[in-house]
Amino acid sequence: MKAFTVLVLCCSFFSSRATPLALEFSDCDDPDVFKAVDAALKKYNEDRATGNQFALYVVMEAKRTAGPDPQFYVKYRILESTCAAEENKHWQHCHYKVSAEAKTGECTARVHMNDADKTTNVSQNCSIFSDVSKIKLTEAPCLGCFHHISSDGSEVSEILKQAIQKFNKRSDEPALFKLVEIKEAKRQVVAGWNYVIRYEIEETNCSKDQFPDLTAECKITSRG
Ligand SMILES: *[C@@H]1O[C@H](CO)[C@@H](O)[C@H](O)[C@H]1NC(C)=O
Ligand SMILES: *[C@@H]1O[C@H](CO)[C@@H](O)[C@H](O)[C@H]1NC(C)=O
Ligand SMILES: *[C@@H]1O[C@H](CO)[C@@H](O)[C@H](O)[C@H]1NC(C)=O
Repeated sequence: MKAFTVLVLCCSFFSSRATPLALEFSDCDDPDVFKAVDAALKKYNEDRATGNQFALYVVMEAKRTAGPDPQFYVKYRILESTCAAEENKHWQHCHYKVSAEAKTGECTARVHMNDADKTTNVSQNCSIFSDVSKIKLTEAPCLGCFHHISSDGSEVSEILKQAIQKFNKRSDEPALFKLVEIKEAKRQVVAGWNYVIRYEIEETNCSKDQFPDLTAECKITSRG
C-alpha cells in the first residue's frame, strides 16, 4: 500500500485588469505556472549577491498566453529563507526564516518560455518589506491572512476532487489513489482566494487501465 501527503496551493482570481497581452487566467496548479514562478524566483535569488535567499510563499495570480512558447504573467509572494545567497542552493531546499526580522516580498514577473531551445526570459519587479506582519500566518481575522476553513465544505471538496483527478492522471502509479484525510485547509483573502490544503491519499484497488476515474467501487487497499 502506498500513501502520499500532497499540498495544493491554489488560487482563483476575480480581478479583470486589462493587460497588453492576450492572457488567459491560469490555474495555479498548472505545472507550467510553477515552472514560470520557479524561473523568476531563481533569477531573483541569483541577482542577489548578499543576504539570504527568498523562498516561494504563495502564487497569487497567474495568467498565460495560449499556445506554444507561452508568456506568463505571475504575481507571487516570497519569504526570506535561512539559506545564504552565496550558498547557491535551490530555494526549494531552504526553510523559511522564522524571525520577527524576516523579510517578505511581492513580485510581479513576465516570463517567456521557449519550449524548443529551453530558454526562459524573465522580467520582474519585486518589492521587499521588512514588515513580516504583511503576510504572517495567523488566525487573526484580517485581509491577507490565512484562515483555517472547514475541510468538509464544498469549496475544499471541489478543489480536492480536481487535484486528485490531476494527480491520478499524471502519476506514474498503476493504481488510482483516493483521499484518506484532509490534514489542513486554509484560505487567504487577497484579491480573490488562495488556498493551502494538505491532504493524504492512498492507493486503491482500481487500476488506471480499467478505471478512467475513481468510482464508489474503488476501495483503499488495506495496510500491511
Ligand atoms: C530571450 O532573450 C534573448 C536575448 O534578448 C533572445 O535572443 C531570446 O530569443 C529570448 N527568448 C525568449 C524565449 O523570449
Ligand atoms: C517593472 O517596473 C517597470 C517600471 O515601473 C515597468 O516598466 C515594467 O513593466 C515592470 N515589469 C513588470 C514585469 O511588471
Ligand atoms: C475493491 O475492493 C472492494 C471491497 O473489497 C470490492 O467490492 C471491489 O469490487 C474491488 N474493486 C476492484 C476493482 O477490484
